[in-house]
Amino acid sequence: MTVRRPTRRTTRPTVGIVGLGYMGLATGLAFAARGLSVHAFDIKPEIRAAVAAGRTPYHEAGLARLLQDQLRAGRFGVVDSVATLAERSEGLFLCVPTPSRPNGEIDLGPLRRSAEEVAEALRPVRGFRLVVVKSTVVPGTTESVVAPIVSERSGRTGAGLGIASNPEFLAEGTMVRDAVEPARIVIGTSDARSRAWLERAYRPFRAPVFALTPSGAELVKYASNSFLALKVSFANEIARLSDRLGVNVDAVIQAVGHDPRIGDRFLKAGPGFGGSCFDKDVRALVHRAEELGDRFRSGDAALRINDDQLAYVLDRVRSAVGPLRGKRIALLGLAFKDGTDDVRESRAIPIAEALFSEGATVRAHDPVAVENFRRAWTPPNGTGAGELVLVATVPEALEGADAAVLQAAWPEYLRWPGAWTRRMRVPLLLDLRRALDRGRARRVGLTVIGLGAGDPAGTPPPRPGASP
Ligand code: UDX
Repeated sequence: MTVRRPTRRTTRPTVGIVGLGYMGLATGLAFAARGLSVHAFDIKPEIRAAVAAGRTPYHEAGLARLLQDQLRAGRFGVVDSVATLAERSEGLFLCVPTPSRPNGEIDLGPLRRSAEEVAEALRPVRGFRLVVVKSTVVPGTTESVVAPIVSERSGRTGAGLGIASNPEFLAEGTMVRDAVEPARIVIGTSDARSRAWLERAYRPFRAPVFALTPSGAELVKYASNSFLALKVSFANEIARLSDRLGVNVDAVIQAVGHDPRIGDRFLKAGPGFGGSCFDKDVRALVHRAEELGDRFRSGDAALRINDDQLAYVLDRVRSAVGPLRGKRIALLGLAFKDGTDDVRESRAIPIAEALFSEGATVRAHDPVAVENFRRAWTPPNGTGAGELVLVATVPEALEGADAAVLQAAWPEYLRWPGAWTRRMRVPLLLDLRRALDRGRARRVGLTVIGLGAGDPAGTPPPRPGASP
Protein backbone atom coordinates (compact mmCIF):
# COMPACT_ATOMS: atom_id res chain seq x y z
CA MET A 1 0.00 0.00 0.00
CA THR A 2 1.31 3.45 -0.79
CA VAL A 3 0.90 6.16 1.79
CA ARG A 4 0.28 9.56 0.33
CA ARG A 5 2.23 12.25 2.11
CA PRO A 6 0.64 15.70 2.23
CA THR A 7 2.25 17.88 -0.44
CA ARG A 8 4.57 20.52 0.91
CA ARG A 9 3.13 23.30 -1.19
CA THR A 10 -0.54 23.83 -1.71
CA THR A 11 -0.40 26.56 -4.34
CA ARG A 12 -0.62 25.41 -7.93
CA PRO A 13 2.34 26.14 -10.18
CA THR A 14 1.88 29.07 -12.55
CA VAL A 15 2.64 28.52 -16.21
CA GLY A 16 3.94 30.96 -18.81
CA ILE A 17 3.77 30.15 -22.53
CA VAL A 18 6.12 31.80 -25.02
CA GLY A 19 4.83 31.34 -28.57
CA LEU A 20 1.19 30.82 -29.48
CA GLY A 21 1.48 28.49 -32.45
CA TYR A 22 -0.68 25.35 -32.47
CA MET A 23 1.54 23.71 -29.89
CA GLY A 24 1.98 26.61 -27.47
CA LEU A 25 -1.70 27.36 -27.49
CA ALA A 26 -2.78 23.75 -26.98
CA THR A 27 -0.16 23.26 -24.23
CA GLY A 28 -1.20 26.41 -22.37
CA LEU A 29 -4.89 25.61 -22.64
CA ALA A 30 -4.34 22.07 -21.42
CA PHE A 31 -2.62 23.37 -18.26
CA ALA A 32 -5.51 25.82 -17.79
CA ALA A 33 -8.09 23.07 -18.31
CA ARG A 34 -6.28 21.08 -15.62
CA GLY A 35 -6.71 23.96 -13.19
CA LEU A 36 -3.36 25.76 -13.44
CA SER A 37 -3.07 29.47 -13.96
CA VAL A 38 -1.60 30.23 -17.38
CA HIS A 39 -0.20 33.43 -18.92
CA ALA A 40 0.65 33.46 -22.59
CA PHE A 41 2.69 35.64 -24.92
CA ASP A 42 3.37 35.72 -28.64
CA ILE A 43 5.76 38.03 -30.42
CA LYS A 44 3.08 38.87 -33.03
CA PRO A 45 0.56 41.44 -31.75
CA GLU A 46 -2.13 40.15 -34.16
CA ILE A 47 -1.86 36.65 -32.70
CA ARG A 48 -2.04 38.02 -29.14
CA ALA A 49 -5.12 40.06 -30.06
CA ALA A 50 -6.87 37.12 -31.75
CA VAL A 51 -6.17 34.71 -28.90
CA ALA A 52 -7.16 37.25 -26.23
CA ALA A 53 -10.45 37.69 -28.09
CA GLY A 54 -11.08 33.93 -28.11
CA ARG A 55 -10.16 33.33 -31.74
CA THR A 56 -7.66 30.64 -32.71
CA PRO A 57 -5.57 31.47 -35.76
CA TYR A 58 -5.64 27.75 -36.81
CA HIS A 59 -8.18 25.13 -37.74
CA GLU A 60 -7.99 22.60 -34.94
CA ALA A 61 -11.04 20.72 -33.67
CA GLY A 62 -12.14 21.87 -30.21
CA LEU A 63 -9.33 24.40 -29.75
CA ALA A 64 -11.43 27.57 -30.07
CA ARG A 65 -14.02 26.19 -27.68
CA LEU A 66 -11.35 25.30 -25.12
CA LEU A 67 -9.81 28.76 -25.49
CA GLN A 68 -13.12 30.52 -24.93
CA ASP A 69 -13.89 28.34 -21.90
CA GLN A 70 -10.51 28.97 -20.29
CA LEU A 71 -10.57 32.71 -20.98
CA ARG A 72 -14.01 32.86 -19.38
CA ALA A 73 -12.85 30.82 -16.40
CA GLY A 74 -9.98 33.30 -15.93
CA ARG A 75 -7.35 30.55 -15.93
CA PHE A 76 -5.80 31.54 -19.25
CA GLY A 77 -4.78 35.08 -20.18
CA VAL A 78 -2.64 36.80 -22.79
CA VAL A 79 0.02 39.27 -21.65
CA ASP A 80 1.70 41.97 -23.71
CA SER A 81 5.32 41.45 -22.76
CA VAL A 82 7.79 38.75 -21.80
CA ALA A 83 8.57 40.84 -18.71
CA THR A 84 5.01 40.44 -17.43
CA LEU A 85 5.09 36.77 -18.31
CA ALA A 86 8.35 36.24 -16.40
CA GLU A 87 7.06 38.10 -13.41
CA ARG A 88 3.77 36.18 -13.20
CA SER A 89 4.81 32.63 -14.14
CA GLU A 90 7.19 30.28 -12.40
CA GLY A 91 7.53 27.83 -15.28
CA LEU A 92 8.25 29.47 -18.65
CA PHE A 93 7.62 27.13 -21.57
CA LEU A 94 9.40 27.99 -24.83
CA CYS A 95 7.02 26.93 -27.62
CA VAL A 96 8.63 28.57 -30.64
CA PRO A 97 9.20 26.99 -34.04
CA THR A 98 12.41 25.14 -34.91
CA PRO A 99 12.29 25.05 -38.72
CA SER A 100 14.51 22.86 -40.88
CA ARG A 101 17.52 23.98 -42.84
CA PRO A 102 18.15 22.39 -46.26
CA ASN A 103 20.75 19.99 -44.78
CA GLY A 104 18.28 18.69 -42.21
CA GLU A 105 19.76 20.64 -39.32
CA ILE A 106 17.24 22.67 -37.31
CA ASP A 107 17.32 26.44 -37.23
CA LEU A 108 17.71 27.49 -33.61
CA GLY A 109 17.36 31.23 -34.35
CA PRO A 110 13.83 31.67 -32.96
CA LEU A 111 14.61 29.51 -29.92
CA ARG A 112 17.81 31.41 -29.12
CA ARG A 113 15.99 34.74 -29.44
CA SER A 114 13.16 33.72 -27.17
CA ALA A 115 15.59 32.23 -24.62
CA GLU A 116 17.50 35.53 -24.65
CA GLU A 117 14.34 37.57 -24.19
CA VAL A 118 13.07 35.39 -21.38
CA ALA A 119 16.47 35.46 -19.67
CA GLU A 120 16.67 39.27 -19.80
CA ALA A 121 13.15 39.43 -18.40
CA LEU A 122 14.18 37.19 -15.51
CA ARG A 123 16.83 39.63 -14.20
CA PRO A 124 14.56 41.70 -11.97
CA VAL A 125 12.29 38.82 -10.98
CA ARG A 126 12.46 37.31 -7.49
CA GLY A 127 11.87 33.66 -6.66
CA PHE A 128 12.53 30.39 -8.47
CA ARG A 129 12.00 30.28 -12.22
CA LEU A 130 12.15 27.29 -14.54
CA VAL A 131 12.76 27.66 -18.28
CA VAL A 132 11.30 24.69 -20.13
CA VAL A 133 12.14 23.87 -23.75
CA LYS A 134 8.95 22.53 -25.33
CA SER A 135 10.02 23.22 -28.90
CA THR A 136 11.39 20.16 -30.66
CA VAL A 137 15.18 20.35 -30.48
CA VAL A 138 17.86 17.78 -31.22
CA PRO A 139 19.40 15.96 -28.27
CA GLY A 140 21.89 18.15 -26.46
CA THR A 141 20.31 21.51 -27.34
CA THR A 142 18.70 22.32 -23.99
CA GLU A 143 21.94 21.79 -22.11
CA SER A 144 24.44 23.11 -24.61
CA VAL A 145 22.52 26.00 -26.21
CA VAL A 146 19.58 27.10 -24.07
CA ALA A 147 21.03 26.65 -20.57
CA PRO A 148 24.12 28.85 -21.18
CA ILE A 149 22.04 31.60 -22.80
CA VAL A 150 19.54 31.63 -19.95
CA SER A 151 22.05 31.55 -17.10
CA GLU A 152 24.36 34.15 -18.64
CA ARG A 153 21.67 36.59 -19.74
CA SER A 154 19.58 36.30 -16.59
CA GLY A 155 22.53 36.54 -14.25
CA ARG A 156 20.93 33.74 -12.26
CA THR A 157 22.59 30.58 -11.10
CA GLY A 158 22.05 27.77 -8.67
CA ALA A 159 18.79 27.35 -6.84
CA GLY A 160 16.99 30.33 -8.38
CA LEU A 161 16.98 28.94 -11.90
CA GLY A 162 16.08 25.64 -13.48
CA ILE A 163 16.30 24.53 -17.12
CA ALA A 164 14.36 21.58 -18.46
CA SER A 165 13.28 19.78 -21.58
CA ASN A 166 9.66 18.70 -21.90
CA PRO A 167 8.79 17.53 -25.42
CA GLU A 168 5.23 17.38 -26.66
CA PHE A 169 3.47 14.62 -28.59
CA LEU A 170 0.51 16.46 -30.07
CA ALA A 171 -0.87 15.37 -33.42
CA GLU A 172 -2.87 17.82 -35.48
CA GLY A 173 -6.57 17.13 -35.57
CA THR A 174 -6.46 15.48 -32.11
CA MET A 175 -4.40 18.15 -30.43
CA VAL A 176 -6.91 19.07 -27.74
CA ARG A 177 -7.32 15.48 -26.58
CA ASP A 178 -3.58 14.78 -26.86
CA ALA A 179 -2.81 17.86 -24.75
CA VAL A 180 -5.51 17.51 -22.10
CA GLU A 181 -5.29 13.71 -21.83
CA PRO A 182 -1.70 12.88 -22.76
CA ALA A 183 -0.66 9.22 -22.95
CA ARG A 184 2.59 10.08 -21.20
CA ILE A 185 4.62 13.02 -19.99
CA VAL A 186 8.35 13.17 -20.66
CA ILE A 187 10.53 15.50 -18.64
CA GLY A 188 14.26 16.05 -18.82
CA THR A 189 15.94 17.79 -15.93
CA SER A 190 19.33 17.95 -14.30
CA ASP A 191 18.28 19.05 -10.82
CA ALA A 192 15.74 17.85 -8.27
CA ARG A 193 13.90 21.15 -7.91
CA SER A 194 13.10 21.45 -11.63
CA ARG A 195 11.97 17.85 -11.76
CA ALA A 196 9.73 18.33 -8.70
CA TRP A 197 8.23 21.48 -10.21
CA LEU A 198 7.35 19.74 -13.48
CA GLU A 199 5.97 16.69 -11.71
CA ARG A 200 3.76 18.97 -9.64
CA ALA A 201 2.61 20.94 -12.71
CA TYR A 202 1.67 17.72 -14.50
CA ARG A 203 0.11 15.93 -11.51
CA PRO A 204 -3.47 16.98 -12.45
CA PHE A 205 -3.07 15.20 -15.82
CA ARG A 206 -2.77 11.80 -14.08
CA ALA A 207 -0.52 10.50 -16.86
CA PRO A 208 2.62 8.40 -16.42
CA VAL A 209 5.67 10.63 -16.11
CA PHE A 210 9.02 9.57 -17.56
CA ALA A 211 11.85 11.53 -15.99
CA LEU A 212 15.17 11.60 -17.84
CA THR A 213 18.05 13.97 -18.40
CA PRO A 214 17.41 16.83 -20.86
CA SER A 215 19.22 14.99 -23.68
CA GLY A 216 17.33 11.81 -22.85
CA ALA A 217 13.97 13.59 -23.04
CA GLU A 218 14.96 15.23 -26.32
CA LEU A 219 15.91 11.84 -27.73
CA VAL A 220 12.55 10.36 -26.68
CA LYS A 221 10.80 12.89 -28.91
CA TYR A 222 12.96 12.17 -31.96
CA ALA A 223 12.94 8.43 -31.41
CA SER A 224 9.13 8.48 -31.14
CA ASN A 225 8.58 10.45 -34.32
CA SER A 226 11.23 8.48 -36.20
CA PHE A 227 9.64 5.19 -35.20
CA LEU A 228 6.18 6.40 -36.22
CA ALA A 229 7.56 7.62 -39.55
CA LEU A 230 9.25 4.26 -40.04
CA LYS A 231 5.97 2.45 -39.37
CA VAL A 232 4.26 4.51 -42.07
CA SER A 233 7.12 3.91 -44.51
CA PHE A 234 7.08 0.21 -43.73
CA ALA A 235 3.34 0.03 -44.43
CA ASN A 236 3.89 1.95 -47.67
CA GLU A 237 6.47 -0.55 -48.89
CA ILE A 238 4.12 -3.42 -48.08
CA ALA A 239 1.42 -1.51 -50.00
CA ARG A 240 3.57 -1.38 -53.11
CA LEU A 241 4.28 -5.10 -52.87
CA SER A 242 0.56 -5.68 -52.32
CA ASP A 243 -0.24 -3.88 -55.56
CA ARG A 244 2.24 -6.00 -57.45
CA LEU A 245 0.80 -9.15 -55.92
CA GLY A 246 -2.84 -8.12 -56.39
CA VAL A 247 -3.67 -8.22 -52.68
CA ASN A 248 -5.08 -5.57 -50.38
CA VAL A 249 -2.58 -4.05 -47.97
CA ASP A 250 -5.24 -3.32 -45.33
CA ALA A 251 -6.15 -6.99 -45.09
CA VAL A 252 -2.46 -7.87 -44.85
CA ILE A 253 -1.72 -5.29 -42.14
CA GLN A 254 -4.81 -6.30 -40.20
CA ALA A 255 -3.58 -9.86 -39.99
CA VAL A 256 0.05 -8.88 -39.38
CA GLY A 257 -1.00 -6.41 -36.69
CA HIS A 258 -2.99 -9.02 -34.85
CA ASP A 259 0.31 -10.28 -33.50
CA PRO A 260 0.40 -8.35 -30.21
CA ARG A 261 4.13 -7.85 -30.63
CA ILE A 262 3.41 -5.83 -33.75
CA GLY A 263 0.00 -4.17 -33.43
CA ASP A 264 -1.83 -2.51 -36.30
CA ARG A 265 -1.71 1.14 -35.28
CA PHE A 266 0.00 3.73 -37.45
CA LEU A 267 0.46 1.22 -40.24
CA LYS A 268 -2.04 2.70 -42.67
CA ALA A 269 -0.46 2.93 -46.10
CA GLY A 270 -1.03 6.13 -48.02
CA PRO A 271 0.68 8.72 -50.19
CA GLY A 272 3.59 9.00 -47.73
CA PHE A 273 3.90 10.96 -44.53
CA GLY A 274 3.63 14.73 -44.47
CA GLY A 275 3.09 17.37 -41.82
CA SER A 276 5.43 19.64 -39.97
CA CYS A 277 7.11 16.98 -37.81
CA PHE A 278 8.06 13.67 -39.35
CA ASP A 279 10.25 14.72 -42.25
CA LYS A 280 11.85 17.51 -40.24
CA ASP A 281 12.50 15.46 -37.12
CA VAL A 282 13.82 12.37 -38.87
CA ARG A 283 16.14 14.48 -41.01
CA ALA A 284 17.34 16.31 -37.90
CA LEU A 285 18.18 13.04 -36.12
CA VAL A 286 19.95 11.69 -39.22
CA HIS A 287 22.01 14.90 -39.25
CA ARG A 288 22.65 14.77 -35.49
CA ALA A 289 23.79 11.15 -35.74
CA GLU A 290 26.31 12.22 -38.38
CA GLU A 291 27.52 15.03 -36.15
CA LEU A 292 28.05 12.45 -33.43
CA GLY A 293 30.11 10.34 -35.83
CA ASP A 294 27.40 7.72 -36.23
CA ARG A 295 24.53 6.79 -38.55
CA PHE A 296 20.79 6.61 -38.17
CA ARG A 297 20.03 4.18 -40.95
CA SER A 298 16.42 3.39 -40.09
CA GLY A 299 15.62 7.12 -40.16
CA ASP A 300 17.35 7.41 -43.49
CA ALA A 301 15.33 4.48 -44.80
CA ALA A 302 12.05 6.03 -43.62
CA LEU A 303 12.85 9.19 -45.58
CA ARG A 304 13.94 7.37 -48.75
CA ILE A 305 10.87 5.17 -48.73
CA ASN A 306 8.78 8.30 -48.33
CA ASP A 307 10.38 9.76 -51.47
CA ASP A 308 9.81 6.47 -53.30
CA GLN A 309 6.17 6.54 -52.27
CA LEU A 310 5.62 9.89 -53.95
CA ALA A 311 7.19 8.59 -57.15
CA TYR A 312 4.97 5.52 -56.90
CA VAL A 313 1.82 7.63 -56.47
CA LEU A 314 2.69 9.58 -59.60
CA ASP A 315 3.41 6.38 -61.55
CA ARG A 316 0.01 5.02 -60.56
CA VAL A 317 -1.67 8.22 -61.73
CA ARG A 318 0.21 8.15 -65.04
CA SER A 319 -0.50 4.52 -65.73
CA ALA A 320 -4.20 4.98 -64.90
CA VAL A 321 -4.73 8.22 -66.79
CA GLY A 322 -2.19 7.99 -69.63
CA PRO A 323 -0.18 10.99 -70.80
CA LEU A 324 -1.15 13.93 -68.62
CA ARG A 325 -0.87 16.77 -71.11
CA GLY A 326 -4.31 18.30 -71.62
CA LYS A 327 -5.94 16.06 -69.00
CA ARG A 328 -8.10 17.39 -66.22
CA ILE A 329 -7.41 15.97 -62.77
CA ALA A 330 -9.44 16.68 -59.63
CA LEU A 331 -7.19 16.75 -56.57
CA LEU A 332 -9.26 16.16 -53.44
CA GLY A 333 -7.69 16.98 -50.08
CA LEU A 334 -4.87 19.51 -49.93
CA ALA A 335 -4.02 19.32 -46.23
CA PHE A 336 -1.33 16.80 -45.24
CA LYS A 337 -4.11 14.69 -43.74
CA ASP A 338 -7.79 15.18 -43.04
CA GLY A 339 -8.81 17.08 -39.92
CA THR A 340 -6.37 19.98 -40.33
CA ASP A 341 -5.84 23.02 -42.55
CA ASP A 342 -2.07 22.51 -42.43
CA VAL A 343 -0.42 21.99 -45.82
CA ARG A 344 3.17 21.77 -44.58
CA GLU A 345 4.90 18.84 -46.32
CA SER A 346 1.51 17.88 -47.72
CA ARG A 347 1.76 15.34 -50.52
CA ALA A 348 -0.84 17.45 -52.35
CA ILE A 349 1.91 19.97 -53.16
CA PRO A 350 4.37 17.72 -55.06
CA ILE A 351 1.46 15.81 -56.63
CA ALA A 352 -0.04 19.07 -57.95
CA GLU A 353 3.41 20.23 -59.07
CA ALA A 354 4.06 17.04 -61.02
CA LEU A 355 0.64 17.03 -62.69
CA PHE A 356 1.05 20.72 -63.53
CA SER A 357 4.55 20.22 -64.94
CA GLU A 358 3.32 17.40 -67.14
CA GLY A 359 0.67 19.66 -68.63
CA ALA A 360 -2.48 18.69 -66.74
CA THR A 361 -5.14 21.03 -65.45
CA VAL A 362 -5.43 20.41 -61.72
CA ARG A 363 -8.72 21.34 -60.10
CA ALA A 364 -7.97 21.27 -56.40
CA HIS A 365 -10.34 21.18 -53.45
CA ASP A 366 -10.14 21.01 -49.68
CA PRO A 367 -12.84 21.84 -47.13
CA VAL A 368 -10.51 24.05 -45.05
CA ALA A 369 -6.98 24.17 -46.47
CA VAL A 370 -7.49 26.03 -49.77
CA GLU A 371 -6.14 29.35 -48.49
CA ASN A 372 -3.04 27.77 -46.96
CA PHE A 373 -2.49 25.83 -50.17
CA ARG A 374 -2.81 29.01 -52.23
CA ARG A 375 -0.11 30.64 -50.10
CA ALA A 376 2.18 27.60 -50.34
CA TRP A 377 1.80 27.16 -54.11
CA THR A 378 4.43 28.41 -56.55
CA PRO A 379 3.91 27.16 -60.09
CA PRO A 380 6.91 25.05 -61.08
CA ASN A 381 9.02 26.39 -63.93
CA GLY A 382 9.47 24.67 -67.21
CA THR A 383 7.71 23.81 -70.36
CA GLY A 384 4.53 21.86 -70.55
CA ALA A 385 3.06 23.88 -67.72
CA GLY A 386 -0.54 23.07 -67.02
CA GLU A 387 -2.95 24.94 -64.86
CA LEU A 388 -3.98 24.92 -61.23
CA VAL A 389 -7.50 25.99 -60.30
CA LEU A 390 -8.53 26.10 -56.65
CA VAL A 391 -12.24 25.46 -56.36
CA ALA A 392 -14.75 25.82 -53.54
CA THR A 393 -16.81 22.66 -54.06
CA VAL A 394 -16.21 19.03 -54.99
CA PRO A 395 -18.53 19.11 -58.05
CA GLU A 396 -16.50 22.01 -59.44
CA ALA A 397 -13.33 20.00 -58.94
CA LEU A 398 -14.83 16.99 -60.72
CA GLU A 399 -16.30 18.90 -63.69
CA GLY A 400 -15.07 17.19 -66.87
CA ALA A 401 -12.31 15.37 -64.98
CA ASP A 402 -10.31 12.53 -66.52
CA ALA A 403 -9.67 11.23 -62.99
CA ALA A 404 -9.85 12.29 -59.38
CA VAL A 405 -7.05 11.77 -56.87
CA LEU A 406 -8.10 11.49 -53.23
CA GLN A 407 -5.12 12.68 -51.18
CA ALA A 408 -6.72 13.40 -47.76
CA ALA A 409 -9.69 11.37 -46.58
CA TRP A 410 -12.07 14.12 -45.48
CA PRO A 411 -15.40 12.56 -44.41
CA GLU A 412 -17.35 14.63 -46.96
CA TYR A 413 -15.50 12.88 -49.81
CA LEU A 414 -16.52 9.50 -48.48
CA ARG A 415 -20.20 10.29 -48.93
CA TRP A 416 -19.64 10.43 -52.73
CA PRO A 417 -23.10 10.76 -54.36
CA GLY A 418 -23.92 9.63 -57.91
CA ALA A 419 -24.17 13.27 -59.04
CA TRP A 420 -20.44 13.68 -58.44
CA THR A 421 -19.56 10.80 -60.78
CA ARG A 422 -21.80 12.30 -63.45
CA ARG A 423 -19.69 15.45 -63.42
CA MET A 424 -16.61 13.50 -64.51
CA ARG A 425 -15.62 12.74 -68.07
CA VAL A 426 -13.98 9.49 -66.96
CA PRO A 427 -15.41 7.99 -63.75
CA LEU A 428 -12.08 7.11 -62.19
CA LEU A 429 -10.82 7.69 -58.65
CA LEU A 430 -7.26 7.08 -57.47
CA ASP A 431 -7.88 6.60 -53.80
CA LEU A 432 -4.49 7.14 -52.15
CA ARG A 433 -5.94 6.31 -48.70
CA ARG A 434 -8.28 3.45 -49.68
CA ALA A 435 -10.94 5.41 -47.87
CA LEU A 436 -13.98 5.27 -50.16
CA ASP A 437 -16.25 2.29 -49.56
CA ARG A 438 -16.16 -0.06 -52.57
CA GLY A 439 -19.89 -0.82 -52.35
CA ARG A 440 -20.67 2.86 -52.57
CA ALA A 441 -18.24 3.29 -55.47
CA ARG A 442 -20.03 0.52 -57.40
CA ARG A 443 -23.44 2.05 -56.71
CA VAL A 444 -22.34 5.45 -58.00
CA GLY A 445 -20.60 4.02 -61.08
CA LEU A 446 -17.08 4.94 -60.04
CA THR A 447 -14.01 2.85 -60.85
CA VAL A 448 -11.57 2.98 -57.95
CA ILE A 449 -7.87 2.27 -57.96
CA GLY A 450 -6.83 2.14 -54.35
CA LEU A 451 -3.14 2.64 -53.61
CA GLY A 452 -1.98 -0.70 -52.23
CA ALA A 453 -5.40 -2.28 -52.79
CA GLY A 454 -4.07 -4.60 -55.48
CA ASP A 455 -6.30 -3.09 -58.18
CA PRO A 456 -5.26 -3.38 -61.82
CA ALA A 457 -4.20 0.05 -63.05
CA GLY A 458 -6.30 0.44 -66.19
CA THR A 459 -8.35 3.38 -67.39
CA PRO A 460 -12.11 2.84 -67.56
CA PRO A 461 -13.82 4.09 -70.72
CA PRO A 462 -15.26 7.62 -70.67
CA ARG A 463 -18.83 7.90 -69.41
CA PRO A 464 -21.29 7.49 -72.25
CA GLY A 465 -22.16 10.91 -73.54
CA ALA A 466 -19.25 12.65 -71.84
CA SER A 467 -17.59 15.18 -74.09
CA PRO A 468 -13.85 14.71 -74.70
C1 UDX B 1 2.94 13.76 -35.58
C2 UDX B 1 2.96 12.84 -34.34
O1 UDX B 1 1.86 11.93 -34.41
C3 UDX B 1 2.90 13.67 -33.09
O2 UDX B 1 2.98 12.82 -31.95
C4 UDX B 1 4.06 14.64 -33.10
O3 UDX B 1 4.11 15.41 -31.94
C5 UDX B 1 3.98 15.51 -34.33
O4 UDX B 1 3.98 14.69 -35.50
P1 UDX B 1 1.10 15.02 -37.02
O5 UDX B 1 2.22 15.50 -37.87
O6 UDX B 1 0.04 15.98 -36.63
O7 UDX B 1 1.68 14.40 -35.66
O8 UDX B 1 0.35 13.87 -37.83
P2 UDX B 1 0.17 12.31 -37.78
O9 UDX B 1 -1.25 11.99 -37.56
O10 UDX B 1 1.13 11.65 -36.88
O11 UDX B 1 0.49 11.91 -39.29
C6 UDX B 1 1.72 12.22 -39.92
C7 UDX B 1 1.70 11.79 -41.35
O12 UDX B 1 1.71 10.37 -41.46
C8 UDX B 1 0.46 12.24 -42.12
O13 UDX B 1 0.84 12.63 -43.40
C9 UDX B 1 -0.42 11.02 -42.14
O14 UDX B 1 -1.30 11.01 -43.23
C10 UDX B 1 0.62 9.93 -42.24
N1 UDX B 1 0.17 8.65 -41.69
C11 UDX B 1 -0.06 8.50 -40.37
C12 UDX B 1 -0.02 7.58 -42.55
O15 UDX B 1 0.17 7.67 -43.77
N2 UDX B 1 -0.39 6.37 -42.01
C13 UDX B 1 -0.61 6.20 -40.69
O16 UDX B 1 -0.93 5.05 -40.28
C14 UDX B 1 -0.45 7.30 -39.84
